[in-house]
Amino acid sequence: MAARLRPLLVDIHSHVYLPRYASLLRARKDVPRIFTRTNAAGAQEDRLVILTDEPTDQGRPVGPQYWDRQAKLQFMDQHGIDCSVISSANPWLDFLSASDAYETAQDLNRDLEEYCATSPAISSDVDPRGFKRLYGFGLLPLVPGISVDKIVDTVRQIEKLPHLRGIIIGTRGLGDGLDDDALDPVWEALEKARLVSFIHPHYGIGKEAWGKEQSHVLPLALGFPFETTIAITRMILAGVLDRHPNLRILLAHSGGVLPQLSSRLASCIAHDPVVASRLRHDARAYLGMLYYDAVAYGSAELAFVADVAKRGRSHLGITTASDDGTKRLLWGTDHPFFPPLEASEKWRSVVDNLDAIDGVETWNQSQKDAVRGGNAVDLFFADSE
Ligand code: URA
Ligand code: ZN
Repeated sequence: MAARLRPLLVDIHSHVYLPRYASLLRARKDVPRIFTRTNAAGAQEDRLVILTDEPTDQGRPVGPQYWDRQAKLQFMDQHGIDCSVISSANPWLDFLSASDAYETAQDLNRDLEEYCATSPAISSDVDPRGFKRLYGFGLLPLVPGISVDKIVDTVRQIEKLPHLRGIIIGTRGLGDGLDDDALDPVWEALEKARLVSFIHPHYGIGKEAWGKEQSHVLPLALGFPFETTIAITRMILAGVLDRHPNLRILLAHSGGVLPQLSSRLASCIAHDPVVASRLRHDARAYLGMLYYDAVAYGSAELAFVADVAKRGRSHLGITTASDDGTKRLLWGTDHPFFPPLEASEKWRSVVDNLDAIDGVETWNQSQKDAVRGGNAVDLFFADSE
């Protein structure tokens, strides 16, 4: 293995709407859509409307940072990010018909491969291993009515595209969630291909939960992580991780509230003999099989997730000193979402998540370096060294 000149900063939660996808959104009248309006200053501006319950004529600002690779690289340079593992942003292909979704997934995967393959390499002054600055998560055509063969076929396509190292998926599956038995061949193919499955929310948990609060705050701060929590918990309860223990599942937003609720989950299972008898492990063990992005914005939360992951590892009988839970956490930014409201040198969403790592009192320098990039190199690039 070549010597490392300095630890890398790797962003594993960074989104794009590839130009082909942005055109798709522009052609639509319904959500999800991009539309252009004249703003109060008389200028034309693009707006993005993607959340199911938001008004169709407001949206949020959207611009080149979503589709222009140069803007992505510029953002990376501005924040000292050496490498990003890019994923299409929500809602992926969820709104397409089965026949359109397959072709579009294949096209977008080829586009993303090109986007990454033609990116610059990390300077050999920084790291001599020849990594590119951009890698990607591909898309699967996970829509109701599609044949599972077509999804598996797309896993095979991604496996052959050298700069794609995983897939990003929402929580809907074929319409019945990620615990749908019909998805078993897909999990099997992903496990064999050693692709990372990045589970990311989009739908939240329903607007009736939010009462009179109409902003994006509750859906994004709570709805998104609750959605991820429910999706992965259903997978655990359905035995997906028992049948596919080598799946490399990465959870958005540090696993939502599953880390906080895993002992309660274990207790509820223990009081239900039917569920308990069909699971191989104590519920807390499954948390040691998962990876978590470090997009939690706080040191206390990161330290807690690492502790819970470590406890999961020990439930699995893995007690190696180096396997201390921090190995399961990988830094990310969620770029280009959460842009600064006023011109600023650095994005708050980036700085906050880096400060959170820095501020964990119980982690030493090498653990912090691992969360900032070393773990990503091990998870995504171990086979390319
Ligand atoms: N808002 C979204 O819609 N998606 C993200 O990934 C982050 C914020
Ligand atoms: Zn995201």
